[in-house]
Amino acid sequence: MRKVIVLNGPNLNLLGQREPATYGSATLADVEALCQAAGARLGVAVECLQSNHEGVLIDAIHEAGRDVQAGSVLGVVFNAGAYTHTSVALHDAIKGAEVPVIEVHISNVHAREAFRHHSYISPAAAGIVVGFGVDGYVLAMEGLVRKFGPV
Ligand code: DQA
Repeated sequence: MRKVIVLNGPNLNLLGQREPATYGSATLADVEALCQAAGARLGVAVECLQSNHEGVLIDAIHEAGRDVQAGSVLGVVFNAGAYTHTSVALHDAIKGAEVPVIEVHISNVHAREAFRHHSYISPAAAGIVVGFGVDGYVLAMEGLVRKFGPV
C-alpha cells in the first residue's frame, strides 16, 4: 500500500488555539486523525509530520521524492504555512525532488492580506486546495489519489 505524506509547516502545531476565527477549532491532532481516516477510506497509508523549521520541511520533501521514485510514496499533501509566501527553497525542493505535491491552505489566502496572495509553492504544485477549512486536507488527499493513483 502506497503512502501519502501529510506535511505541515510553521505554526500549524498551534491549530485549535491559533486565530480560531480564521483557522477553526480543530487541533493538529484532529487534522491528523481526519487524514488517517481518509487514508483508510482511500486505501493509502498516511504519515504525518509537522515542523516549524524550513530545513526540516525541505529534508522531508527530498525524502518523499526518493520514496516516490522507489514506489512506496504517492505524494505529499503540504500546508507550508507562512513559508508558502517566502520560501524559494521549498519551491526548489519540490521541483528538484520531482514529488507530486498538493498545496493546502485552511483559510482562503486570496481573501486575506495581500502578502498571502503569492505562493512560491503553487508553481511547483500538482494541485491546490484553498479555503475549505481542515476538510481541505482530505480533499487534497482525494485529489492526489485521483491524479496519481492507482494506489
Ligand atoms: C495558511 C495560510 C498562511 O498564509 C498562514 O501563514 C498559515 C496558514 C492556511 O492554512 O490557511 O500559517 O497556510
